[in-house]
Amino acid sequence: MSRLGTESAFEVLVRARELEALGKEIIHLEIGEPDFPTAPHIVEAATRALHDGWTHYGPPAGFPQLREAVAEDVGSRRGIKVDPGEVVITPGGKPIMFFTILALVEPDDEVLHPNPGFPIYESMINFVGGRAVPYRLIEDRDFDVDVDEIIGKLTDRTRLVILNSPQNPTGGVMSRTQVAALAEALAGRDVFVLSDEIYNRLIFEGDHTSLAQFPGMKERTIILDGFSKTYAMTGWRMGYGVMRSDLARQVALLMTNSNSCTASFSQVAGIEALQGDQRSVDVMREEFRRRRSVIVDGLNRIPGFRCRTPHGAFYVFPNITGTGKTSHALADAMLNEAGVACLSGTSFGKWGEGYLRFSFANSVENIQKALAHIGEWAEKNL
Ligand SMILES: Cc1ncc(COP(=O)(O)O)c(C=O)c1O
Repeated sequence: MSRLGTESAFEVLVRARELEALGKEIIHLEIGEPDFPTAPHIVEAATRALHDGWTHYGPPAGFPQLREAVAEDVGSRRGIKVDPGEVVITPGGKPIMFFTILALVEPDDEVLHPNPGFPIYESMINFVGGRAVPYRLIEDRDFDVDVDEIIGKLTDRTRLVILNSPQNPTGGVMSRTQVAALAEALAGRDVFVLSDEIYNRLIFEGDHTSLAQFPGMKERTIILDGFSKTYAMTGWRMGYGVMRSDLARQVALLMTNSNSCTASFSQVAGIEALQGDQRSVDVMREEFRRRRSVIVDGLNRIPGFRCRTPHGAFYVFPNITGTGKTSHALADAMLNEAGVACLSGTSFGKWGEGYLRFSFANSVENIQKALAHIGEWAEKNL
């Protein structure tokens, strides 16, 4: 257990709630979830499913109807052929990280992962006794990966490479050239790739590129995706993985040994989410685009902060070295003194030092208020 890490967004949320209980006003820019309600047609599908008796256990890998719907959606959006037998439905996308790392990584196997990056990757690699090998995402490249660095870190012991695009915490999006170069480098190597594409519908410029689209790559790629971010369904716990059918069977076995299955009525609503009206997805993305410019412009006006425009997801990752503070100290000051909850860049690994992460999944009004508080704090303290 001592090897297991955590996700500090949840810890900061608890601290923020404690301050609120003491009467302090806190603006929440720490947690990564859309602030929109789930679209009514999806809620109605779940309500109907409950009344129709979808209240029992289902198959560990998910209901065939949903697996088919996911296969169709993932396949058509990426231009690949996906068989329903290659899909496993899980309670959220996160279990796909947990299960694939558990299924594939043996002690001392090396796993390449992004740093700064989603902290659960490193936590799980360490948990199973693997060796976590970080690769860097840098501001000067707009937080796109540098495939040459990844290639330079591949060894005979590399078992898995983890990709995440659009990326949490930086909002970076992998360019097609980088993904293509990686596909070329991995051809002929015995390496799997966990491609976390949970934010793929939240791209502001350009298109999403999946490694699975390149010749020979689908067989070695595990696509992680889900409903949480795209359809504002974080609390429903609905996600999925797309992978080779033999691996899918192993992951389903891990489901049998842990959750048994994903909630049945949630799965029925998932079919509606994928096949029903998609307008809510576009509306959310356009609203996020509006908020993105408000927060980027606002942060760039505050002394000590320098913020790039993220190309995807709903996070900004400003450089705060100009404040002369460490990320951790500044994140604490933001919460305790400015009343703005955010995360230290180091919550995403050592190379997050010098940065903060703000989520812009909050109203323009609250973002403006947060910017005003941070601006006042900076005037007084820097
Ligand atoms: C990069 C990334 N992958 C996966 C997840 C997990 O999503 P879910 O809520 O579907 O488990 C998150 C959630 O914050 C995330 O940021």
